[in-house]
Amino acid sequence: MNIHALLITRFSQALSDMGITDAPVPVARSGRPEFGEYQFNGAMALAKQLKQKPRDIAEKILEHVKLDDVASKLEIAGPGFINIHLADEWLASQCQQALADTRSGIPAQNAQTIVVDYSSPNLAKEMHVGHLRTTIIGDAVVKLLEFLGHKVIRQNHMGDWGTQFGMLLAHLSDKLSANEVAETALSDLENFYREAKVRFDEEEGFADRAREYVVKLQSGDQQCAELWHLFIDVSISHSEEVYEKLNVSLTRKDIMGESAYNEDLPHVVAELKEKGIAVEDQGAQVVFIPELADKEGKPAVYIVQKSGGGYLYATTDLAAMRYRSGKLNADRTLILTDARQALHFKQTEIVGRKAGFMKPEQTYEHCPFGMMLGSDGKPFKTRSGGTVKLVELLDEAVERASKLLAERDTDLTADELKDVARKVGIGAVKYADLSKNRTTDYVFNWDTMLSFEGNTAPYLQYAYTRVQSLFRKAEVAPTALSADIVIEHAQEHALAVQLLQLEEQLSVVARDATPHVLCSYLYDLASHFMSFYEACPILKSDVPEATRNSRLALSALVAKELRLGLDLLGIETLEKM
Ligand code: ARG
Repeated sequence: MNIHALLITRFSQALSDMGITDAPVPVARSGRPEFGEYQFNGAMALAKQLKQKPRDIAEKILEHVKLDDVASKLEIAGPGFINIHLADEWLASQCQQALADTRSGIPAQNAQTIVVDYSSPNLAKEMHVGHLRTTIIGDAVVKLLEFLGHKVIRQNHMGDWGTQFGMLLAHLSDKLSANEVAETALSDLENFYREAKVRFDEEEGFADRAREYVVKLQSGDQQCAELWHLFIDVSISHSEEVYEKLNVSLTRKDIMGESAYNEDLPHVVAELKEKGIAVEDQGAQVVFIPELADKEGKPAVYIVQKSGGGYLYATTDLAAMRYRSGKLNADRTLILTDARQALHFKQTEIVGRKAGFMKPEQTYEHCPFGMMLGSDGKPFKTRSGGTVKLVELLDEAVERASKLLAERDTDLTADELKDVARKVGIGAVKYADLSKNRTTDYVFNWDTMLSFEGNTAPYLQYAYTRVQSLFRKAEVAPTALSADIVIEHAQEHALAVQLLQLEEQLSVVARDATPHVLCSYLYDLASHFMSFYEACPILKSDVPEATRNSRLALSALVAKELRLGLDLLGIETLEKM
């Protein structure tokens, strides 16, 4: 149920019955309960257009709008707002339907094909915190779009190509000659990279060999390709270890790394040249972008081929755009990276569109996010100033969660505790990230993210277990409940409205790739449930059976939505904690 969309339909109908077409139909949430739940705010603009008094227009709209089934009261307020008070019976029947429906009353939408480019670590090194946000936010967006019925194509645009592989392969080749096994040699990628870099900078002849390897790799030399595969393979398994710990849905078949576009790159450049978009400049192939000129009016320079003939990150992204548009038929392409790449994607879009690498109606949406900061407000680092390996961070999360849980009063067995600690620890890290508006930097703080109070994973996981324990006490399974939902109490009314606003919020997340909107919704839902639970007794002996069952049914819907929402966010729920 999308109340907002329903109201827009009804008001549009009313306006068209009045002979008014193509006017905007602004419906918003009301700021205060005494104004009802929603407000139609269009009368003021119409008044100007029709040269009538806004309140008169509002009166006329009230005569035409058909909301008898939905609203208990419509009233004109202030200069000409129409306040809409939703009817208890209608709310009850909608909740009843949502409870009975496997999709919680949220229909699948017209499917679009949506490419989501996320995670995309660089394989030369170990995954570090810089790839945490894209991986977590991307995976939530993907799950949500799929739930809404879209065809989602995950694209893990891994950095598996480029000149740094020359030095890495030369180093690996030496290790193998010394009878080392690849898995052992590459067990610590950071270390391996560092060793190779030192040799590149200091050891005589090594840099030349590294360059030779690059040439060999690019010309498709068999032996070199095998070495590269070996390297990539071990490095991918490092990422997979992280994905598994994070409970993220990416698999090998989602990998479409930079190397996959290797053969396309000369064609991309040739096409740009043919169309007169790329021109030679000091031996390089460049595109000048007047749309992004600097203060002096000098156009931005976008290099697609270096003077030595080498290709760049940008060239690969143009090839990727062409592939996603032409081969994958993506209606939308979402790319999740940190905000520092915003200019790159803006330029890529301008150049790609000029070249006709996308159809005009296909969208190219860079979804930037801010950085993860340490408590000192600086980029998140280890104590010694190194990059934080994701695997270690996640292990620490589980360890901290298990310490916290051990301090609580619990009747869980040791095995159960272990499972709870994992779900709470990992959930906390993910949720901390998901719940912040992605466009800003955020401060990573163990204590807040693991707290059982506030907008955190543990709070929501706990709220879910509260409902489960309610059903255990009632000795009935939520699915076995047969009850007529009746809404009488103000807290029941507020909870029901909240329960029916999920779809509205999901469509915002689908449009903007902003999972924090869903997090806020779930947090509000849990808070509404707690107030309802305080105000409306359920299992007390003097509560009539019909009331008890109705309240249990509302609680069951709360649990169902919490679970759905947390599932979409990639956060696991628990029966007990
Ligand atoms: N590998 C890049 C990085 O770590 C991210 C790639 C994002 N996707 C893309 N199509 N460029 O910064």
